[in-house]
Amino acid sequence: MLAGVWLACTSSTPEDAATGVPSFPGPGVEQTPMGTAGSRGSTATGSDQELLPNPTLVPREEGSLGMTPLGVPPSGRTDTTLRDGWRFFAGDATGAEQPGFDDGQAGWQDILVPHTWNALDAQDGGSNYRRGAGWYRRHWSAPPATPGRRVYLQFDAANSVADVYLNGQRLGQHRGGYSAFRFDATSALREGDNLLAVRVDNAAVPDVPPLSADFSFFGGLYRNVHVVAVPALHIDLEDAAAPGVYLQTSEVGAASAELHARVRVTNGGAESETAIVALSVADAAGVPVAHLEGELALAAGQTGEVELTGRIAEPHLWNGKADPYLYRATAQVTRASDPTGETDVVVQPLGIRSFAVDANADFSLNGRPLDLHGVNRHQDRLNLGWAIGEAEQDEDMALIVEMGATAVRLAHYQQAQYFYDLCDREGLIVWAEIPLVDAITNDPAFAENSRQQLRELIRQSYNHPSILFWGIGNEQRTDDAPTNALLADLAALVRSEDSTRLSTYAHCCASDTGGLPQHADLSGYNEYFGWYTGTYDQFGPWADALHAARPNARLALSEYGAGASLDQHQDPPQQPATDGAFHPEEYQSAFHEAHWAALETRTYLWGKFVWNMFDFASDTRGEGDTPGRNDKGLVSYDRKTKKDAFFWYKANWSSEPFAHITSRRFELRTTANVEIKAYSNLPRAVLRVNGAEVSEVASPNHIFRWAAVPLGVGTNQVEVVAKDASGVAIATDQVSWSR
Ligand code: GCU
Repeated sequence: MLAGVWLACTSSTPEDAATGVPSFPGPGVEQTPMGTAGSRGSTATGSDQELLPNPTLVPREEGSLGMTPLGVPPSGRTDTTLRDGWRFFAGDATGAEQPGFDDGQAGWQDILVPHTWNALDAQDGGSNYRRGAGWYRRHWSAPPATPGRRVYLQFDAANSVADVYLNGQRLGQHRGGYSAFRFDATSALREGDNLLAVRVDNAAVPDVPPLSADFSFFGGLYRNVHVVAVPALHIDLEDAAAPGVYLQTSEVGAASAELHARVRVTNGGAESETAIVALSVADAAGVPVAHLEGELALAAGQTGEVELTGRIAEPHLWNGKADPYLYRATAQVTRASDPTGETDVVVQPLGIRSFAVDANADFSLNGRPLDLHGVNRHQDRLNLGWAIGEAEQDEDMALIVEMGATAVRLAHYQQAQYFYDLCDREGLIVWAEIPLVDAITNDPAFAENSRQQLRELIRQSYNHPSILFWGIGNEQRTDDAPTNALLADLAALVRSEDSTRLSTYAHCCASDTGGLPQHADLSGYNEYFGWYTGTYDQFGPWADALHAARPNARLALSEYGAGASLDQHQDPPQQPATDGAFHPEEYQSAFHEAHWAALETRTYLWGKFVWNMFDFASDTRGEGDTPGRNDKGLVSYDRKTKKDAFFWYKANWSSEPFAHITSRRFELRTTANVEIKAYSNLPRAVLRVNGAEVSEVASPNHIFRWAAVPLGVGTNQVEVVAKDASGVAIATDQVSWSR
């Protein structure tokens, strides 16, 4: 069933004049058509509808070099990633922005971007990693100018204050370490050699959150840098550095869904133009399912917005992990005066879904209950800091999916668009957030930067169906007027930027029933019973008391966790000193066994997020087995080892059959008898030691225990065979322990 609609709707807002520019780039760099994340516009117009025959989308070869996907029309836009050829200096360097500056001198080095200068010193403890300036320089050659085209420099992130110069001309400064930003390089560009110089500074500044946090603030150009060249008439690039296409769906049902698109268009040419704006939607197979079209008259230099609405018949819903179905929306802008001439194209994901967190804090997706359980994830990796690539992100996602999470809180900052894309494709529900962590200031500039980072997060990530919640803050410590005012302001900004999603907040340390957790639509609580306070059996009663005190609040457990060393073991485990050097793995497992038993019955919590999926760098810490490491991960910092607690959650959350003997790294035993424990998502398990069967046991809760099992002197082969309900052996695990 194909649906096509025609809409006549125009609106425009005056903006800067544009100037002519050369096309781009020179030889030696890869060039791929643009496809980017979404955002939103702000003007409303009326619309009338009639069915139109669907256009013939120009089929394009799906190539391995990231060519335009099948069914997307050719675009005059190019997106060139500047990966190699960079020179870097760790420090300040007077005159480094000038083309004639000698970056061949001592101290300068060849590097690749993404890059951080803190890859090692921000992960080794001592609270002493270098925070300050770093300079990046890169030459490249540009071809002769093409009148009307415009060229932008796009930075996917730089931590945390970046000053950008082209050929010695300052293009601008961006303050904030986690969002993309762009500068119009058009007027500074020249034919032949160009010199891009960027000063990045991660020193503490009072107006840019986060001011403090339990993670290292890695400095540098830690995500990709792009050159984006576009036709004079193009989809706007200057709306908080978002792609300028905003997709909403509403009235989602089996028969149809309403699609509402906003497309921002800029006329960068010297003459007035009328833009033909088309939005085509194709299904996962590339078959067109909708085509919306409108026109927009723009004076030279003007930017305006078109709103297009239509219906998609019998939509295939994006349904989380069960069925993360994605359409592809292609926005295309063409000059009415030359409809077969140059065009600009932006491709966006489209996931059609509806969701709710009702008054009882029950979450539903597309009208059906869905239990949101999962993890928090930081983006850093051993020896790489934040300068990770797609392979590292793929690996992180594979581990989260293997464990069986249905949701992820991408704490504590805007993460890479690539990771949000992965969440779309894997069907994870996402809590995205800004880095308003811990301490704040009453400085108006701090509040403005917080608003800027929230606006950038929302507009740059708007079209990801996996993102349902925008987090406005984490653990502000003082329930005072300025803090409440800021949180209220940010919650209002979410509502004005994105009426389709909910705001949320992660609360900890001021009163649980005070003002701080009441500004966002949803309330998360970070609780560490059995780690920082009390014992882990106290979590359940605390949660029940909070629910009674805030019966109308929609509550989640946004963080809970305990540290664990792979090399430290204790049987039976005792609650350790959190700041001590001894964090036995067995205690983390006991902590999570108790917490999940308490959580799985408390359906009044709309979400449960383990802190943390991975160990991560916090250079101020000096606990557990590694200085500079927060060791609450379910997986090690290098992603090489899944801790026992990972398998506890896999046993509860995944249907992939497995058996896992715990304390496997507790290889040298000192007692003649030991307790042997295994996790499995199968109902029965047999234990064998040195080939002799000990017993077969059943378990109703995925934990299989054998008490006082004798170990022989020397090496003992221990095996667990997990069986299905009919007694068929399905999965096994073996370890070798010595005494
Ligand atoms: C806090 C905080 C995290 C921190 C965690 C911990 O709740 O939100 O950023 O890492 O606790 O102490 O491990």
